[in-house]
Amino acid sequence: EEDERTERIEAALETLGDDVVILGHNYQRREIVEHADFVGDSYQLSKEAADADAEYVIFGGVTFMAESADIITDPDQRVILPSMEASCPMAGMAEALQVDAAWAELTAATDADIVPVTYMNSYADLKAFCAEQGGLVCTSSNAHDAFEYALDEGDKVLFLPDKHLGENTAHRLGLEDEIAEWDPWDAASADAGEVVESDVILWDGYCQVHERFRTSHVEQVRDEHDDVSVVVHPECRREVVEAADVVGSTATICETVANADPGDTWAIGTEIHLAQHLQRWHPEVNVVPLCGDACMDCNAMRQIDPNYLTWVLEELVAGREPNVVEVAPEEKELARVALDRMLEI
Ligand code: 13P
Ligand code: SF4
Repeated sequence: EEDERTERIEAALETLGDDVVILGHNYQRREIVEHADFVGDSYQLSKEAADADAEYVIFGGVTFMAESADIITDPDQRVILPSMEASCPMAGMAEALQVDAAWAELTAATDADIVPVTYMNSYADLKAFCAEQGGLVCTSSNAHDAFEYALDEGDKVLFLPDKHLGENTAHRLGLEDEIAEWDPWDAASADAGEVVESDVILWDGYCQVHERFRTSHVEQVRDEHDDVSVVVHPECRREVVEAADVVGSTATICETVANADPGDTWAIGTEIHLAQHLQRWHPEVNVVPLCGDACMDCNAMRQIDPNYLTWVLEELVAGREPNVVEVAPEEKELARVALDRMLEI
């Protein structure tokens, strides 16, 4: 079945030629990654989308990534997401409407200048909101630069949606005593008047895949393997990052394993598909998933089924345009400002 599907994908790609480019996030399944022209982390994929000449950019990733690609490609290029169900739950944890209401509360509680920074894992309307308030977008590979930009331009940063990336970034910058977590809808949370005392205010979002890693996983892998090193994604809890040897974006995780010596053992604390790719790409390195038996599978990324990839390609061959991701023009312009600020820092 896989062979037949591969033949169909290859035949469609041959017909479509330079009209199509396939971008694949590091968490995509093997059957998607194998057909991608470029595989990388969110930041690299946004740069590849910006530089792409093809009429159709097929995005192996989740909705917010495809939206960002639509924002930075030319108006005559189309971004296609093989499944419209591929939505990152974290991106849904900070809706622009909620943030707008919370922002009014926050800014009323202080005279200080707050600059909002949103993680790439958010929807276009939130990116537009951040641009409007003088803020910007970041990914896990440049969050520290975005924090520095925000604290240069203003007095305080509101980071959303991922509290763990925010906390890990604040630690990296020596701002660990300046962190306040904030959930405006939780009566048990500190109120706006209290959180504005801190320079780094964190929205209460998280990734349900990375949050499941515990320090016990790190302890277990160190018990089971001699001379193992541990690399984790900064969406992991602070204590997991502290227990690891290296922390970084999925591109950093890839580089870490690529630069390992033959026979080295690396435990990978991120989505399971990337750990599997790394073992395939670097058979000389001993790659172990940090999660052991507990499978850390992102079901948003998993929505991009190779059968859907086949379908969108064959639709394009037939002259139809399936699953086009299009950001509304009024949001697009502002969201682009927030993304351009990131690409410039
Ligand atoms: P990267 O930018 O590191 O690829 O991460 C994206 C993501 O969704 C991690 O969960
Ligand atoms: Fe979203 Fe987490 Fe999946 Fe990344 S791994 S796309 S943050 S749910």
